[in-house]
Amino acid sequence: MARQGRTHAQPRRTSNQRRLAAAVAGLKGTVQFDAPLKDYTSFRIGGPADVLVEPADIDDVVCLVRQTRAQKLPLFVVGGTNLLIRDKGIRGVVVSLGRLRAIKEEPGAVLYAEGGVGMPTLIGYAIRHSLAGLEWAAGIPGTVAGCVVMNAGTRLGEMKDSVKAVRLVNMQGEIVDLPVSEIPFAYRRATLPPGIVVGVWLQLKAGVRAEIEKVVKDYLHYRRDTQPLTLPSAGCVFKNPPKDSAGRVIDSAGLKGAQVGDAQVSDKHANFIVNRGQASAKDVLALIRKVRAAVTRKTGVKLELELKVVGQA
Ligand code: EPU
Repeated sequence: MARQGRTHAQPRRTSNQRRLAAAVAGLKGTVQFDAPLKDYTSFRIGGPADVLVEPADIDDVVCLVRQTRAQKLPLFVVGGTNLLIRDKGIRGVVVSLGRLRAIKEEPGAVLYAEGGVGMPTLIGYAIRHSLAGLEWAAGIPGTVAGCVVMNAGTRLGEMKDSVKAVRLVNMQGEIVDLPVSEIPFAYRRATLPPGIVVGVWLQLKAGVRAEIEKVVKDYLHYRRDTQPLTLPSAGCVFKNPPKDSAGRVIDSAGLKGAQVGDAQVSDKHANFIVNRGQASAKDVLALIRKVRAAVTRKTGVKLELELKVVGQA
């Protein structure tokens, strides 16, 4: 008996799948279709990416940007912290810079770090080379690129204090080096041309290793004592209101421990929402609404999100 035509054939690819495949064709890095994004965020929450790419080097990023643009697909860089990916995930191409990890010291106490270098690694390198200026970032788990894009900061300082220049692959797939004078920084935001930050030059200062190490250690202790660093979270959820602390305001409204599903306002620091196991983005967003409404009702303060929320619900 004649076989049914389709039985042994590969399932037909849709036009979207063909475009995704064309966007990632020939790359040296890793490519994963329908990739869960949970493990790429510190919250351990998020649906899948249509395709997730970890470029092997900056040339790979250039190639990916050009091919993605030719296919008219959206491109998103997954940064890791201060990010909530909704439960249905992200359409198009998602990029993780996890393989762009080179660091080098340049004359004049300058460090160049590729975009995927984690802040803890960079701080470790700065300590070993007796370079001061990044102590404020002790305990920030994000990548250096993510920290530039959001002008990450703490009580002790912020990214803009150290950035000298940024290397970006723009949406035309060109490598552009921008001096800091051309980058407007604001509270938790840097205005950069659309593109992917693939490298950062940081202007540090020659210092004494033991002193730098002590500031970092003391600050890490402070954070460990006051923040829930052992549970998955996205760092601080809300921006601080002028001259106050969002954590203090949420705490004063009696919201520590408030919970929706597995998402909970931390008992340790009220500006953290922690994932107690299987929290969904829907749970987190419902909890955020609850916190905002209660804080406004009880204190009159309107909290603004620091957390970036992306993807499909
Ligand atoms: N406080 C409370 N209850 C709380 C939390 C804080 O009363 O639940 C009080 C503290 O006792 C303290 C004051 O509020 O008197 C300030 O608290 P903290 O020192 O923790 O600083 P913060 O303003 O809440 C900021 C940054 C943090 C950063 C810390 C430490 C923002 C939105 N938050 O928090 O950054 O780690 O300083 O430098 O800028 C982040 O950006 O993800 C983040 C966590």
